[in-house]
Amino acid sequence: MKISLSKDSVTTTKAGIVAVGVHDKELSKNSDVKRLDTAMKGALLRQAKDEGFSGRTNEVLKVPGAGSVKAGWVVLVGLGAGKTTAGDARRVAVHGARSARRQSSVAVVLPRGDAASAQAAAEGLLGGAYRYDQYLTGSRKPQGKIRSGFILGIKNADAAARAAVKNGQILGESVCFARDLVNAPPNDLTPEVLAKTAAAEAKGTGIRTSVWNKAKIDKAGMRLFLAVNQGGGNEPRFVHMVYKPARPKAKVAFVGKGLTFDSGGLCLKPAKSMIDMKCDMAGSATTFGIVLAAARMKLPVEVHAVVGATENMNGDFAYRPGDVIESLDGKTVEIINTDAEGRLVLADILAYTRDKIRPDFMIDHATLTGACMVALGKWRAAMYANDEALGKQYAAAAERADENYWNLPLDDELAATLKSEIADLKHTGDAYGGSITAALFLREFVGDTKWIHCDIAGPAFLDGSHDLAPKGGTGFGVGTGIEFLKGL
Ligand code: BES
Ligand code: MN
Ligand code: ZN
Repeated sequence: MKISLSKDSVTTTKAGIVAVGVHDKELSKNSDVKRLDTAMKGALLRQAKDEGFSGRTNEVLKVPGAGSVKAGWVVLVGLGAGKTTAGDARRVAVHGARSARRQSSVAVVLPRGDAASAQAAAEGLLGGAYRYDQYLTGSRKPQGKIRSGFILGIKNADAAARAAVKNGQILGESVCFARDLVNAPPNDLTPEVLAKTAAAEAKGTGIRTSVWNKAKIDKAGMRLFLAVNQGGGNEPRFVHMVYKPARPKAKVAFVGKGLTFDSGGLCLKPAKSMIDMKCDMAGSATTFGIVLAAARMKLPVEVHAVVGATENMNGDFAYRPGDVIESLDGKTVEIINTDAEGRLVLADILAYTRDKIRPDFMIDHATLTGACMVALGKWRAAMYANDEALGKQYAAAAERADENYWNLPLDDELAATLKSEIADLKHTGDAYGGSITAALFLREFVGDTKWIHCDIAGPAFLDGSHDLAPKGGTGFGVGTGIEFLKGL
């Protein structure tokens, strides 16, 4: 989709759809609505009143353009109560683009005409237009796509505004790339293909990518990572991407869980819990999305993406409960439940990143525990920090990106549940605080590095669309990661 700033007004734009935000109960005082309604000889407000549209959050009304309105359709988008934010532009854009059926262009009227809103609108246009349709054939193949997005109502169409649109476009594309990876079926998106797809996407961005096969991972001594892999037929991959600008302000490493499928291993998941487990590489998708966006935006920060990709299967050579395995940094780990595989992969990747990359900050994303969803629901991620200032910075970035996290404690008392009789560590705790004990296990491998752990088990993959996120892969976490980097 090509997105540009436009000087057209709400009534003169010839786009297939013109989308306008309306705060709750402010329908009749909204100046854009008034102008449209006058041009439509009262047909817009008549329809809105008839359908009881008042502007509650995410309420949408689609009315054919009439009278002297040039757009094909007018879409009103409810913004709820409260004062206008840049995020409102994203909401208008997402719903505007989602409303498109046969329309090939969408115009978004900014609720507030600043650069931040223009960026959010560009991002929202791409996010709202997103469909995962690569596997549909015949009559189910998508008919048309939105080819152009227009942003209306910018006060100052200067270089800063144009740069904001470009950054919004980059962010939207990176989020959609992450969504595509998460939605890809696990027979096609093997660890090898995941690594190849990410490396191909990084071509031309200035990112350097190195990919290790099983022999190299073995040589490096990542035995926990390999233990998870050994029950399946597909080889694992270790992926390291680096984006390094001239004179970077800081060095940040993002680490991702890349389980292309999680059957649970010998501790096999029941069918109902296994059905969505292609999503278990979402942490890696978010990680790739962040480094790609950072490089394309040319942010002045050195960014690394480090991913461990494997399946967790239960073949002949599968690892067992009771096995004791040595981690990359020498700690011995007693395996309790082979379905707690993500923390094992991450343990080796975190230790590697800590010792070999030595970043100022290390931030991991993982669909790590069902317990996190029990605690926070399916639409919110958990965030853990071993450094208070960093935790605050990351939470503030999440706020700016409009993504929902909740800070959970690295509760030292619970660490006792990870004690093993025969090894340095057990890899699971007891029945309670499962997201926290998983985070505490990871903490054993980060040393003194300032670190954030994001358990994105819930919001990375949805069983139905929610708010601005689509059903399936969401790309959750990319926006916050980028906001964090921009704030450094
Ligand atoms: N990948 C799952 C966690 C998950 C669950 C992600 C639901 C997305 C949706 C993870 O590997 C897992 O199986 N965790 C176990 C840990 C337990 C065995 C200690 C869990 O949460 O049940
Ligand atoms: Mn698992
Ligand atoms: Zn898993």
